[in-house]
Amino acid sequence: MKSLVLAATLIVFAASAAFAADCIVYPASAGKVSFNHKAHVDKLKNCKLCHEKAPGKIAGFDKAKAHKLCIDCHKKMNAGPKGCKDCHKK
Ligand code: HEC
Ligand code: HEC
Ligand code: HEC
Repeated sequence: MKSLVLAATLIVFAASAAFAADCIVYPASAGKVSFNHKAHVDKLKNCKLCHEKAPGKIAGFDKAKAHKLCIDCHKKMNAGPKGCKDCHKK
């Protein structure tokens, strides 16, 4: 029973993940940032690492929130870009 509930939960997550674009591009004065949502989901698996509540648009997502979310994790996991120009491409 427990595994059935887990399986159902995974299916719901997989279905909603389909609505997120594979790659989200943020235009920025420092150069545009390409965030590969699909690659992150495939690698990290856990939506809650980035979505505290229900997965979807993040309220008030801005420079400060983005830098905190993205750079903190890259530092913590020692993976992914940490320098400005590694994320911002002119
Ligand atoms: C590494 C961080 C990260 C992980 C892990 C992650 N997401 Fe996201 N997701 C984001 C960011 C950042 C956005 C864009 C937020 C914004 O611009 O408001 C987003 C946006 C979305 C959106 C809205 C897309 C749109 O274009 O409106 C959905 C739906 C979504 N995520 C679902 C999921 C699901 C389901 C999972 C788990 C399977 C997941 N996400 C895991 C970071 C992540
Ligand atoms: C919870 C941890 C986590 C968060 C949050 C996170 N990343 Fe990453 N990111 C990773 C890991 C781990 C890798 C390395 C993946 C690999 O080498 O396979 C990575 C790799 C990358 C890469 C290089 C590979 C690629 O996909 O092009 C870029 C660019 C990147 N991240 C951008 C972002 C941006 C932008 C955000 C915020 C919107 C973000 N990441 C948030 C963990 C995270
Ligand atoms: C891990 C990826 C990442 C790194 C590293 C990073 N940024 Fe960003 N930055 C982003 C994302 C994603 C956004 C977009 C947030 C939004 O628009 O919602 C952003 C937004 C910005 C903005 C606001 C853009 C605008 O036009 O209003 C500026 C300025 C900026 N970054 C400068 C920098 C500088 C300077 C550095 C180095 C100290 C840096 N960033 C490092 C991902 C990153």
